[in-house]
Amino acid sequence: MIYYFSGTGNSRYVAQRLGASIRQEARFIPATNPYTETLGQEPDSSIGIVFPVYSWGVPPIVLDFLAHLPEAMMEDIRSRNIPLWCVATCGDETGDALTMLRKALRARNVDLSGAWSVIMPNVYVMLPGFGTDSASLEEKKLKESISRVTEIAGRIEKGDFAFDVHTGTFPRLRTSITYPLFRRWGVQTKRWHFTDTCISCGKCARTCPVGNIAMSDGHPVWGTDCTSCCACFHICPTNSIQYGRITRKMGQYSFRNPSEQ
Ligand SMILES: Cc1cc2nc3c(=O)[nH]c(=O)nc-3n(C[C@H](O)[C@H](O)[C@H](O)COP(=O)(O)O)c2cc1C
Repeated sequence: MIYYFSGTGNSRYVAQRLGASIRQEARFIPATNPYTETLGQEPDSSIGIVFPVYSWGVPPIVLDFLAHLPEAMMEDIRSRNIPLWCVATCGDETGDALTMLRKALRARNVDLSGAWSVIMPNVYVMLPGFGTDSASLEEKKLKESISRVTEIAGRIEKGDFAFDVHTGTFPRLRTSITYPLFRRWGVQTKRWHFTDTCISCGKCARTCPVGNIAMSDGHPVWGTDCTSCCACFHICPTNSIQYGRITRKMGQYSFRNPSEQ
């Protein structure tokens, strides 16, 4: 079983490609009730967790999911020695996200056997100075992800686990300073709004991975469960959706399957 979270498609693609290669189901975390998960009668040979790096850490929705998996499932993982692995997708670097995930798993008395990162196009647009990649960099990252995912799938299949993550410089420092700020101030839901180019298509509401956008009088209204994935910003066909004034000049990202190009 592979559990994954994805806002804008990068991690979904990685999870589904890995799943197809190693013949495991890829299950979307927001659509999965953690409380009723089990390993089943014939468990897979490993369990994977695939997620995008958020502020050099792990998206809170992923940590929350892991915290609520049943103890019986954890016991089963331990007694059957099922290896756990993770793949983090990131625009550039993971920081100490891996340690954060490891801590969350150790709190459940299980540990990671392997971890990899895959560099994918950047989608973060909620702070000045960040933004999407140039078209050529986007292309390069997507192309390189093909062989990277194939390599990772091969290793998982063989049980040849490794810790091979692009942490960047000063990972511990970056994560310990930035991630708590992100959790506290990273999403100010009230900043999300639509402008007069909104055509009431509802794509934002349908795309939001956590169902946090409702359409009211033909326009999006944000609830309080925003995960800051930026999917609504990127999907909007008229670039109507904005986060305060920060996103006005940011480019939009649209995931394209690199294996089909
Ligand atoms: C809120 C947020 C924070 C992010 N923080 C980082 C980061 O610290 N380091 C990094 O390399 N990429 C960062 N990114 C980029 C994503 O990790 C990357 O684009 C990822 O592949 C997106 O995955 P998805 O399409 O499955 O949502 C961030 C993206 C978002 C939305």
